Amino acid sequence: MRVLALANQKGGVGKTTTAINLGTALAAIGEKVLIVDLDPQGNASTGLGIDRQNRKISTYDVVTGEARLHQAVTPTAVPRLWIAPSTLDLLGVELEIANSSDRTFRIRKALNELAEFEIEPGVEISYVLIDCPPSLNLLTINALAAADSVVVPLQCEFFALEGLSQLLSTVEQVKRSLNPRLTIHGIVLTMFDPRNKLATQVVADVRDHMGEKVYETVIPRNVRVSEAPSYGKPALLYDLRCAGSQAYLKLASEIIQRERRIRAA
Ligand SMILES: Nc1ncnc2c1ncn2[C@@H]1O[C@H](COP(=O)(O)OP(=O)(O)OP(=O)(O)O)[C@@H](O)[C@H]1O
Ligand SMILES: [Mg+2]
Repeated sequence: MRVLALANQKGGVGKTTTAINLGTALAAIGEKVLIVDLDPQGNASTGLGIDRQNRKISTYDVVTGEARLHQAVTPTAVPRLWIAPSTLDLLGVELEIANSSDRTFRIRKALNELAEFEIEPGVEISYVLIDCPPSLNLLTINALAAADSVVVPLQCEFFALEGLSQLLSTVEQVKRSLNPRLTIHGIVLTMFDPRNKLATQVVADVRDHMGEKVYETVIPRNVRVSEAPSYGKPALLYDLRCAGSQAYLKLASEIIQRERRIRAA
């Protein structure tokens, strides 16, 4: 089981869109994928069509220790894709667990236990994608402490690189103190508009600074991708042929190739 955290403390850069569509694309090529929604906004849950009344057990219960992760796991309309949904309760969870000594390891513990319980007979999850909130708070630290690797969505706009160094130093800190195996898997450029000269410059700058860490695949700005969540569907179900869906399929195979290289090394 590989655990990837989708993290960037900047809001609206495409974390959730990437969790949903990368998750769907990985499932489409045969992986068994669990999305863990760690954002109180619950956008990944809504975007996958999980109504609020169907979130009886959520990541809030998992973080507080009132439930086990497999109990929160809900199937989606996508074969081989499951989600542990979130609710607004998560907003207050930081205070609730602030005084416990294992407060940074709640998600790691939950994922370790997942191996003991089948979410469905015969199903073994191969990829876990954790959708983080737009903050470097305790929830994001929990995700980083539980992850093998971080995927950083970066929006192709002028301020793209701003804040990245803060994120990278947080990852370094977590690696030193909580999770020595943590790595940066890659940086995915999102919402690219080829008609925008600045966006092209931003892509060049980010590649300059971050080199091989940047995935070759760039996710284009695409109306179909932004419409899909309002139908409770991943873009890949809403319109498989649109440029955004095709880009996420390409990203999934690039990620799997990187994984193979990591494993061979
Ligand atoms: N490739 C794309 N094309 C068009 N719109 C996009 C694309 N990717 C994301 N969006 C839109 O941009 C907005 C922000 O995306 P998203 O919610 O994925 O970002 P986020 O980083 O998860 O935000 P937050 O920090 O609030 O959790 C959403 O309205 C989404 O539909
Ligand atoms: Mg989000």
